[in-house]
Amino acid sequence: MKRTILCLGLAAASASALADRLPIPADAPPAFKAECGSCHLPFPPALLAADDWRRVMGGLDKHYGDNASLDEKSRRQIEEFLARHAGSDRRVTRPDIKPGELPRLTLTHWFRKKHDEVPAAAWKDKAVGSAANCAACHTKAEQGSFREREIRMPGNIGGRRHDRD
Ligand code: HEC
Ligand code: HEC
Repeated sequence: MKRTILCLGLAAASASALADRLPIPADAPPAFKAECGSCHLPFPPALLAADDWRRVMGGLDKHYGDNASLDEKSRRQIEEFLARHAGSDRRVTRPDIKPGELPRLTLTHWFRKKHDEVPAAAWKDKAVGSAANCAACHTKAEQGSFREREIRMPGNIGGRRHDRD
């Protein structure tokens, strides 16, 4: 299976980036879930590299077209937390990122590999809208669980068919 190849490459580095369980680490400051989980899923820290998290946290006033500004204390606490648990594997870094561009965990090599079986139509389905909308397919994403059997693809999209009940 393709997964075997991927695992070999990742095994040495951040083991957490490999897993289908990516719970929010227990030392998260309360502001992390409250603030970073208010517009979208509080993304698992291991899915981006520390420098990329610092880029995200350094420009919250211009946050992917939104304003996600925070008081400086919370901002710093969250930044330190994210950097502490960031992914160290090069597959979650974006070496090609341009100055001023915000990093996206949904564009890392790791994310693309993990999702290479998702048909293009699924990302565009109105129930999904964006790859960052993890919970549209991962029914237990809020609990930090991304197991295959918990996935429900939107509508009747092919490839893997997960019927709605
Ligand atoms: C006011 C709403 C709002 C808040 C608060 C917010 N975000 Fe976002 N965030 C967005 C929007 C909108 C996007 C773009 C989503 C998309 O493209 O589908 C985004 C995207 C992201 C992405 C890129 C996702 C991808 O495509 O890979 C990251 C990383 C991110 N946010 C982190 C954070 C962190 C960390 C915090 C807390 C400090 C936070 N966000 C708080 C609205 C918000
Ligand atoms: C359009 C549906 C869809 C969206 C949206 C989506 N995923 Fe996935 N995800 C999948 C599918 C399908 C797989 C492949 C399952 C497999 O082969 O085990 C997958 C695999 C994964 C895996 C690997 C699980 C394992 O068994 O190793 C993780 C982790 C994951 N996704 C996290 C995310 C995160 C985080 C987001 C949001 C930033 C997201 N996904 C968005 C459909 C989606």
